[in-house]
Amino acid sequence: MNIIKRIDRIISEQTNYSRKEIKKLISRGLIYVNNKQVKKTECKFDEKDISLKIGAEEIDIKNHIYLILNKPKGFVSTTDVIKENSVLNLLPERYKKRNLFPAGRLDKDTTGLMIITNDGQFAHNILAPNKHVKKVYEVKIDIPVSSIMKEGFEKGIKLNDGVCKPAILNIKEKYTAEVILSEGRYHQIKRMFGCYGAKVIELNRICIGNLYLPENLKIGDVRELTENELLMIQEK
Ligand code: URA
Repeated sequence: MNIIKRIDRIISEQTNYSRKEIKKLISRGLIYVNNKQVKKTECKFDEKDISLKIGAEEIDIKNHIYLILNKPKGFVSTTDVIKENSVLNLLPERYKKRNLFPAGRLDKDTTGLMIITNDGQFAHNILAPNKHVKKVYEVKIDIPVSSIMKEGFEKGIKLNDGVCKPAILNIKEKYTAEVILSEGRYHQIKRMFGCYGAKVIELNRICIGNLYLPENLKIGDVRELTENELLMIQEK
C-alpha cells in the first residue's frame, strides 16, 4: 500500500520538528528526499519508499510503532485523548500524531504491561483467542485463594457471555495468585473470581507471550519495543 503524504507531514510525524521549523529547514535547503533537495513543503512522497535526510542526518522512517508501557492505576485504555486520563496521554509528544491505540484493554485500576501500537494486524495477532498468546497477571483477592478456584479456572469458568477458555491459576500466597489467560474478555479476571464470591483487590499484568515486564520499566514509563521483544511477545 502506498502512503502518499506531504513532506512536512512526513517529517513532523517522524521527528520533533514543528511545521514552522520544517518550513524553515526546507527554505534553507536542508531537506533531501532520495538524495534530492526538496524545494517546497507541498511536495508529496510515498513515505514507505523514500530515504530522508535532514542536513547530514539520515532519518529512519517508521510506519509502525510498538511501545511498551507500564500502566499506572487511574489511566483508561481509550484513544479519546480529550480524556485527561487516557493512557495515550502518558506518551511523549512525538508519538501523539501516529494513530496509536492500546493493543488490548486493561481496567482503570489495573497496572502493568500494555502495548501501544498503530499496527492493527500485530494487535490482532496478540489478542485474538485463536492465536493463543498468553497473558499473565498477578492478582490479590479479598478471600483466600482455593484449590476449588484453581480447578474451576482449569475447567473453564462460565460467565454470562459464555464459557471461558481453560485458564491456569497458580496459588502464590493466601490471598495472591498468578493467572494465565489466552483470551481477554471484559473484566475477565474480576468476573472469574466473582464466581467464587471473591473481589479482586490488585491486578497487575506481568507478561504477554514470552515478554515479561522489564524490571527497569518503572510505573508510568514507556519506550519502544526492541526487535527481539517484538518477537517474544508474539510467541505462544
Ligand atoms: N481482567 C480484568 O478483570 N481486568 C483487567 O484489566 C484485565 C483482565
